[in-house]
Amino acid sequence: MPTAPETYDAIVLGAGGAGLMCAAMAGQRGRRVLVIDHADQAGKKILISGGGRCNFTNIHTAPDRYLSANPHFAKSALGRYTSQDFIGLVERHGIAWHEKTLGQLFCDHSARQIVAMLLAECEAGGVTVRLDHAITVVTHADGRYRVVHGDRSATAPALVIATGGPSIPKIGATGFAYDLARQFGLKIVEPRPALVPLTLGGEDLLFRSLSGVSTDVIARHGKTGFREAALLTHRGLSGPAILQISSYWRHGETIALDFLPDQPSGWLTDAKRDRPRTTLMQLLRGLLPDRLADTLTDRLSLPGDLGNMPDRKLQEAERRLAAWSFAPNGTEGFAKAEVTIGGISTNELSSRTMEARHVPGLHAIGEAVDVTGWLGGYNFQWAWASGWAAAQAI
Ligand code: FDA
Repeated sequence: MPTAPETYDAIVLGAGGAGLMCAAMAGQRGRRVLVIDHADQAGKKILISGGGRCNFTNIHTAPDRYLSANPHFAKSALGRYTSQDFIGLVERHGIAWHEKTLGQLFCDHSARQIVAMLLAECEAGGVTVRLDHAITVVTHADGRYRVVHGDRSATAPALVIATGGPSIPKIGATGFAYDLARQFGLKIVEPRPALVPLTLGGEDLLFRSLSGVSTDVIARHGKTGFREAALLTHRGLSGPAILQISSYWRHGETIALDFLPDQPSGWLTDAKRDRPRTTLMQLLRGLLPDRLADTLTDRLSLPGDLGNMPDRKLQEAERRLAAWSFAPNGTEGFAKAEVTIGGISTNELSSRTMEARHVPGLHAIGEAVDVTGWLGGYNFQWAWASGWAAAQAI
């Protein structure tokens, strides 16, 4: 005989950053909340994030650091629950942190502290966190959502989709959020892997032989550029600059790398005047890792002393070095992507409450939604902020 359904004020699907934050805050507002997750541990992505130290927010959080079909959507939630709010929470729990670079804040010790903090906040709100339960059926009738999970079922007038996106399936990530959203008639913006290494083929194959070489670049796609390290790998391009630009890249497009972002305009013709007996290879070896310098010189086909080269050729070489074009043939896919771009369309949701406009009581938060941050703590800040926003409304 199936047991009678348990009743709650809200059921949150997914015990990741967004789901735990939402559940804790709603619980502390007096709501009776159940969180369900199929994983045997809460916050698995938090645990593996930031090399085990969780880059939990970024002090430069601003809406223009997020990609979405509606660039205004994230403003409301990000404005009402800020990185300072999350830092306050972290400090109340006595978690030591430091800024690494570019406003990125990390735990001094372990990402486990962030998961423990969120679970403690859930406990303070009387939240029931139920792990290791597969969700088999979700229905909506008479103003209540019913969720069958394992041999149990629960009902509530509010349901929060917080099951994230499909990046890193080996730790339990799925596209369940999209299936559920579709079940309730919500549209999905095509999900794609983002913050992901790019793969090279064809003309660019040569660069794969430089696997292990890392250098500071500006990676550009159209008007967007990121100055950080790029890493050449046996499959193509990686490193923070590449992960950042991958979120903007689509199949068939090119990206450009400025290999010498600190060199002023005209530096090669100036070098010809100042050091005419130097070769391009010698010059580049002074500025870049040797193997990269040699490959670039080879591709530019400019052997011999600078003094013997026409200015026109040097100007052309300078232009190419400042915008070396790559035509990636793909990405390393969801298996390696830090996040999923796209997801539940923001057109379907209220930016204030994250509630579906046409399905009362249904909310979506975190990575499941078509809001994707830059690398560097922005995605967790969206998880916290969107979770907090939904919690104020349920
Ligand atoms: P999240 O994916 O965290 O949680 C979803 C939950 O739903 C999971 O617990 C999952 O088990 C559960 N679930 C999924 N399908 C289900 C189903 N069918 N039934 C039941 N439960 C289901 N961001 C950042 O800001 N700083 C950083 O340092 C990093 N580092 C980083 C490293 C790596 C390796 C990855 C993969 C990602 C990051 N990120 C990051 C991104 C960040 O982890 C991500 O944006 C957030 O975890 C998203 O939080 P959500 O709660 O929305 O989803």
